[in-house]
Amino acid sequence: MTGRALVLRSRDPIPDAVGDSLKALGMTALWEVSPTQWRAYFPQKAPDPVDPLRERHPDVECGWEEEPAVDWAGRYQSSLRPLAIGRRFAVLPSLALDNPWSERIPLRLMPGMAFGTGEHYTTASCLRLLEEMPSSPASVLDVGCGSGILAAASCKLGCPRVTACDVDADALLVAGETAAANGVSYRLVEGSAAQVEGEFDLVFANILAETLSAILPDLAARLAPGGLLAGSGIASGRQEQVLAAASSLGLVLMESRTDGEWWTLLWRAPLSRMG
Ligand SMILES: C[S@@+](CC[C@H](N)C(=O)[O-])C[C@H]1O[C@@H](n2cnc3c(N)ncnc32)[C@H](O)[C@@H]1O
Repeated sequence: MTGRALVLRSRDPIPDAVGDSLKALGMTALWEVSPTQWRAYFPQKAPDPVDPLRERHPDVECGWEEEPAVDWAGRYQSSLRPLAIGRRFAVLPSLALDNPWSERIPLRLMPGMAFGTGEHYTTASCLRLLEEMPSSPASVLDVGCGSGILAAASCKLGCPRVTACDVDADALLVAGETAAANGVSYRLVEGSAAQVEGEFDLVFANILAETLSAILPDLAARLAPGGLLAGSGIASGRQEQVLAAASSLGLVLMESRTDGEWWTLLWRAPLSRMG
């Protein structure tokens, strides 16, 4: 897409009064390229500011210039880079990228379509917890799957039964594409933990602390005896609230990790059902 900019040039630094005039004439953005050269942007339908500007500031030359066409989509695609996470994963945020690390397991994602690119600590810490497990869990539930990154990673580590759910139907479409892009398969459920049936050895919930606290009883109900719950997305300062809620459900804290801003907590369910 091309646009145009009003380019202003002057021998001396352009005075602030010119900026005031530009604003008054409907300017929406200003790029001060240098003290003597500015590029001003106007909505397409705004009245032409050139004549009034020349009249008010005769020492400043001004005229329209076409902006060079920029392939933003292409630039975005080429800015995408493989990302190494933990010891075992390589996130490839585009179908076009090759895995530069032969020893790492590739996780292919569709670029920029749903939360869960692995760049965020809350996702990366879940991937690390997963890869550090002594053996692949027999069943995984990913609550709030977003892109499906955790579900796909679980499959790739050999988990034979993976279910992913999300309250956002668009996220499920993306999670479906992630499964296809990675050649893995998992069950998709629209809704939250309460809408999923069965018990799981490992449940991920990378969801904000408030939501996590609210759905903790549903998450606990999906845990097999002795199963693990990884809660992530807990903003610093909120962890105590989540810890108290989990403890009241009989969940035993096994591990806590933080980057100072976010917390990831791992609990184990009791071996026999409470109550
Ligand atoms: C932070 S993203 C996590 C995405 C991915 N699992 C990851 O770890 O990167 C949270 C996701 O949870 C979903 N979500 C929010 N509230 C939910 C709820 N109560 N039950 C299920 N999913 C929920 C959102 O739609 C969003 O896709």
